[in-house]
Amino acid sequence: MAAFMQKYSLIFLVLLLLQNVYSANSQPYIGVNYGNLADSIPQPGDIVNLLKTTTITKVRLLGSVDQSMNALIKAFADTNIELVIGLDNTEIHWAATGPDAASQWVNSNVMPYYPASNIIIITVGDEVLTSEGEDDDISALLPAMQNIQNALNTASLGEKIKVTTVHSMDVLSQFSPPSSGAFNLSFVDTMKALLQFQTAHGSPFMINAYPFYAYKSDPKPETLSFCLFQPNSGQVDSRNNIKYMNMFDVQVDAVRSALNAIGYKDIEIIVAQTGWPYQNGPNEVGPSLDNAKAYVGNLINHLRSNLGTPLMPGKTIDTYIYELYDEDQKLGPSSEQSFGLFRGDGSPNYDAGLFKSSQNPMTPSPTTPASPTTQPKPAGLWCVPKPAGVSEAQLQENIKFACTRGIDCSPIQKGGACFEPNTIESHATYVMNLYYQVNGRNPWRCDFYHTATLTTINPSYNGCNYPSG
Ligand SMILES: *[C@@H]1O[C@H](CO)[C@@H](O)[C@H](O)[C@H]1NC(C)=O
Repeated sequence: MAAFMQKYSLIFLVLLLLQNVYSANSQPYIGVNYGNLADSIPQPGDIVNLLKTTTITKVRLLGSVDQSMNALIKAFADTNIELVIGLDNTEIHWAATGPDAASQWVNSNVMPYYPASNIIIITVGDEVLTSEGEDDDISALLPAMQNIQNALNTASLGEKIKVTTVHSMDVLSQFSPPSSGAFNLSFVDTMKALLQFQTAHGSPFMINAYPFYAYKSDPKPETLSFCLFQPNSGQVDSRNNIKYMNMFDVQVDAVRSALNAIGYKDIEIIVAQTGWPYQNGPNEVGPSLDNAKAYVGNLINHLRSNLGTPLMPGKTIDTYIYELYDEDQKLGPSSEQSFGLFRGDGSPNYDAGLFKSSQNPMTPSPTTPASPTTQPKPAGLWCVPKPAGVSEAQLQENIKFACTRGIDCSPIQKGGACFEPNTIESHATYVMNLYYQVNGRNPWRCDFYHTATLTTINPSYNGCNYPSG
């Protein structure tokens, strides 16, 4: 029995190691939206090649799957990129009419490409509940999803490909403070029916979350830094005393609270769209190259920190950035046309730290220009709590976080070399630094909900040695 256990724990350990290597290299949680309302559309092969140079591992194709989207699905064959495809709002009624329509859709858009092209999710409609469309769109939504699910089941893909829909934040009547997040009562019945179907099939809840629009509706400087993950004084959720340091976490946790409140505590949340435009139109506040770069770059660092959100600690949310290319044919203010990470020729609009060479902690390459926000820092730096504004409760959380992720916390235990001075701050400093040092010394490992900072001052004392380099 002991030998048996030993063998299994060894396998487990190997799996853990593999998982770490995998996540260090590929970051399965970073996705991107692709839409083609543009004058010049790159060739499918160019799109795939561009994505291969980035850490993006998931692509969501927007709109209905037409011939050009089919060609793109095909171009993703035998890549490691996972695909989300969908029916647009105009196709919902048709898919709801019965099994034939749904089978036809699956037969023409999934079967010819799967499994070489790794389709993981089918979205039925986008923001259907909150769109201006006709009311019967909403009543057709669930039948359409069920029909697609049945068509997948018939093809023995019902377990492999998840059927869901995408919501806007407007399905919530309240999102601040996050713990009070709740669905608008006019949608609750529909939402419950959808969620019952989705949880029966293990399908995720997808939401479009835009701190950008939160800022637009409240354009104050402190809101901007809160939305851009920049230093700010935070917002305390008075119902549970959790201090939020960015709007993304607020929005995601508000959704978590709304789902929990109607009994769906376990359904996975995926951010189907989030982004920031880099160009503004007349009378528009918020869009700029600096802001777009700050939002997307900091968002990615936030995801890479693996901190999760305060209500989902350690759970990294799959997040699809909006969007891969500018869509210059989109209607609306010019910000609508300038969410793109890249121009049609594949050159970046700004460096969001998405290129593989700019972040990979496993193979740092000194010759490649690296994004300043993500370049691994040299030795001689220590990760410590920020000098002011960090509560003991937060430091305690940091200790818990670091010590449950595989570092050796025995030095801060009684009898350990770093036990004295026996203060939360001293103990937190020790383990936060150790966590940063053993995890590749990348700046995003020294974040701890924005309570940490790097210093060149060695905090070691007496027998307590703080490693660096
Ligand atoms: C709830 O949804 C209805 C219908 O879309 C809308 O008229 C109302 O303003 C919403 N209420 C809140 C509090 O958001």
